[in-house]
Amino acid sequence: MAVTINTLREFKEKGEAFSVLTSYDATFAQVVSEAGVDVILIGDSLGMVLQGNDSTLPVSLDEMVYHTACVARGNKGALIMADMPFMTYGTTEAALENAAELMRAGAHMVKLEGTDWMKETISALSERGVPVCAHLGLTPQFVNKFGGYKVQGRDERAAEMMIEHACELENAGADVILLECVPAPLAARITQAVKAPVIGIGAGADTDGQVLVVHDMLGITPGRKPRFVKDFLAEADSVQGAVEAYVKAVKARTFPAEEHTFKA
Ligand code: KIV
Repeated sequence: MAVTINTLREFKEKGEAFSVLTSYDATFAQVVSEAGVDVILIGDSLGMVLQGNDSTLPVSLDEMVYHTACVARGNKGALIMADMPFMTYGTTEAALENAAELMRAGAHMVKLEGTDWMKETISALSERGVPVCAHLGLTPQFVNKFGGYKVQGRDERAAEMMIEHACELENAGADVILLECVPAPLAARITQAVKAPVIGIGAGADTDGQVLVVHDMLGITPGRKPRFVKDFLAEADSVQGAVEAYVKAVKARTFPAEEHTFKA
C-alpha cells in the first residue's frame, strides 16, 4: 500500500520509526521503495553528490523538477518529498508557483528550509493542497550565514528558539518537521512538543523517522564522512541488501547509535 502523510502520522502515534532515503533517479527510487523505505527525498543534496558543487545553492528548480519526475517513474509506493531549492520560496507567490511545478512532476510533499519567517508561506501552501515539511537546525541553504556546516541549537537560548519555531511552523500548517544536526536531547524535546512526525539526520535516535543521503549510506561519498553517517554497504552483499539493512536498523532503532549522535 502506498505511504501517505496519514501513514507517517500513524507511525508516530504507534511509536514506530520510519525510514527516509534520498534518491535522484528512477533506478534508485525503485530499489529503495521496494526495499521498504517509507519516504523518498529528492534532496537538493544532489547539487553536491550528483553535480559536484560544494553547496546546495546552485541547484535550480528545473533540475529538481527533472529529478522528481525521474524518481516518480521508478517509485513503488513510497511518499515522495521534493526539496524546494535556494530562493525558490523567498516570497509566498514564488513558493506557490514553484511548489506547483514539483507537485506536477510527482512530488507528494515539498520541503522548505528555514524558521518562523516561513509561516505565511507554509500556510498558503497548505491551504492550497501542498503538504509541507519544514527543515530546521542545520539548514544547508544557510551555510553562508552559519559560516560552515555546524551543529545547531547547542546553547539553551538557541534550543528554546528551535522548539518555538517547530511549534509555530506546525501551527502554520507544516505536516512534517525535519531536524538536521541538532543535539539528540533537543531533537527528543521537539519530537515530544509537536504532533507532526519528526524526521532526524544527525539528531539522535528519538525522532519519529530517520533520513540519510543514499550515497552516504552506501559509503561512496568522497571526502570527510560526517559523524551521523553509517556505511550500510560495508556489511551487505548488494545495494538492495544495504538498503534493507538500513530500513531494519531504523525500525529497530539501532541506527543511529551513540557514535552517530551529537550529545550537546
Ligand atoms: O538535501 C538533502 O538531501 C537533505 C537531507 C540531508 C535531509 O535535505
